[in-house]
Amino acid sequence: MIISDTAILGCLAPAKINLFLHVVGRRLDGYHLLQSVFQLLDWGDTLDFQLRDDAQIVHSNPLPGVPAETDLCVRAARLLQQTMHNKGQTIQGCEIRIEKQLPMGGGLGGGSSDAATTLIALNHLWKAGLSRTQLQNLALQLGADVPFFVFGENAFAEGVGEQLQAIASEEAWYVVLAPEVMIPTPQIFSANDLTRNSEHVKIADFSSDAKTLREFGRNDLQAVAERLFPVVAEVRKWLEKFGDARMTGSGSCVFCHVEDEFHADVIVKSAPVKAWKAKTLKRHPLAYLLDSA
Ligand code: C5P
Repeated sequence: MIISDTAILGCLAPAKINLFLHVVGRRLDGYHLLQSVFQLLDWGDTLDFQLRDDAQIVHSNPLPGVPAETDLCVRAARLLQQTMHNKGQTIQGCEIRIEKQLPMGGGLGGGSSDAATTLIALNHLWKAGLSRTQLQNLALQLGADVPFFVFGENAFAEGVGEQLQAIASEEAWYVVLAPEVMIPTPQIFSANDLTRNSEHVKIADFSSDAKTLREFGRNDLQAVAERLFPVVAEVRKWLEKFGDARMTGSGSCVFCHVEDEFHADVIVKSAPVKAWKAKTLKRHPLAYLLDSA
């Protein structure tokens, strides 16, 4: 990563996987109450931010079919601008470029992670001076997963995903497979057959060691996603040959813990769909930018 007064280049927006994801209730506004462990991976999108001398936010290589109004990075930048304006600070602009690796509708938090990286990087580049907690509050306006990436630590998440407690995580290798389907999150959460009353768990229930955490619980969204998108079940069953394979988030990607990089390479090479290997991250690579904020 290169940081200067006018640019921050090569920022990683890491993927996340949900080691488990339980739906424990529903709010009056329809949002679901979750309990989940979010794990950061060392693989993801790469973002560049360049200061502009006007106040415009320009995404130089947007994904086809994603207009600026719905582009989560552009929305993140505008939200930060608005916050600075409200505080009487001078507004600046920026050009954003994203090298996309993470599939959309994959449950890896791609769009959310891009938005969080945008908030953290621009908070620094624009000298907005917001604290981590203030940025997390802004992040929640962009989506339920975004606060986790701003939080920057592997975490036990509750509420809709915004109540976060850091948890210790092991160094480990994972393989992630991407069935060729984009899953719209609202479709999974609104399904009639979704389990919404899983029992509440406590950190002590799964934190005794890394293996216990890996094998703990389940993903309550998986059964619904596999019913609506059978290819997810097919790919997960293929991956089951190598260990406990689960879906992440609302899908479509599935993941499996592997012993080491060698085993990861073997699985990736023989996978029937697009596949990646990734190592766990202890912390978000940009988290240090907020340590003194
Ligand atoms: O917050 P985000 O934009 O990621 O959520 C997309 C949709 O998924 C929401 O509009 C909502 O329908 C559903 N959702 C939910 N409960 C959550 C997170 C998301 O019902 N905790």
